Amino acid sequence: MLDIRIEKTATPKQKPAPGEKLGFGHVFTDHMFVMNYTEGKGWHDARIVPFERISLSPAAMVFHYGQEMFEGMKAYKDEKGNAYLFRPDMNAKRANDSNDRLCIPRIPEEDFVQAVEEVVKVEKDWIPTDPGTSLYIRPFIIATDEFLGVAPSKTYLFIIILSPSGAYYASGLAPVGIWIEDEYVRAVKGGIGYAKTGGNYAASLKAQVKAHDGGFSQVLWLDGVERKYIEEVGAMNIFFKINGKIVTPMLNGSILPGVTRNSVLQVCRHWGYEVEERRISVDELVAAAHDGSLEEVFGTGTAAVISPVGKLRFKDEVMTIGNGDIGTLTQKLYDFITGIQWGKVEDPFGWRVTL
Ligand code: COI
Repeated sequence: MLDIRIEKTATPKQKPAPGEKLGFGHVFTDHMFVMNYTEGKGWHDARIVPFERISLSPAAMVFHYGQEMFEGMKAYKDEKGNAYLFRPDMNAKRANDSNDRLCIPRIPEEDFVQAVEEVVKVEKDWIPTDPGTSLYIRPFIIATDEFLGVAPSKTYLFIIILSPSGAYYASGLAPVGIWIEDEYVRAVKGGIGYAKTGGNYAASLKAQVKAHDGGFSQVLWLDGVERKYIEEVGAMNIFFKINGKIVTPMLNGSILPGVTRNSVLQVCRHWGYEVEERRISVDELVAAAHDGSLEEVFGTGTAAVISPVGKLRFKDEVMTIGNGDIGTLTQKLYDFITGIQWGKVEDPFGWRVTL
């Protein structure tokens, strides 16, 4: 159990007004959680302090070799003012999987969850309540040793910042267009694809710019070896409804194990759908789009929630999914999962954590 010192700001900021368009990740709250790690001493000095700039040496290792990890979570508020988290234990566990891969010291999972809970409690008034909004939570760890050798750092900072946010995509719940990338790759088995770390996202930018220039919002990655099998979108995992079955790429070491992905799989099984986690080739997908058996496509992620995909582009072909609108199952999943998160529907899985 952490002993967290709390120092409140003397100059609180103006909170966004109800109805104000928030976008994603632009506004930050008054406080942040900070904790240091020093080799030999472990994690220490847990504190909640005013949100402010941090001072680091230009030689800090994170700037040079990218030794860092992050998580993405959300806090929600219902009409009565109760605040909730969604499956924070899953993020704490995944954080340590990323830490292990990046030689960052583990954080006891109960300490991770306690830190998130405490800082969100301090910032409870910042949780927005307009439909579709939440308080996005960004825990991250950076390597801070002042050293240019390539080696694991001996000191780190664990920080949690909070951002009242709306939909991740500017289009909201309107279906997005996805570009299936056949030139660049995101990750390979044995690499860092399953870890939540900046390098994976930096590696995605080149293709993302290409996709944007072509009029598409996001990139759907193929596997890095055969360039044949569907992997993920980077900001979200991907699901297909083919002939009534729910199909998603199986976790293979190069795909991020999304918390929303895991939740959607459980909900679909609970609703009686046949669910397949397996390899799915781009050829199979294109054939399903051609013969009409590709009924729905949607992405899942903490930031993206459940995002309908209206069109897919592969090589020179653009395929429209259904009539290009949000699919029936996609809408039902969005309503049910956000219903649990916002405290609007019963939670048969015990995923909602009341603060
Ligand atoms: C999240 O969904 O929380 C993520 O971290 C994805 C990020 C690209 C916004």
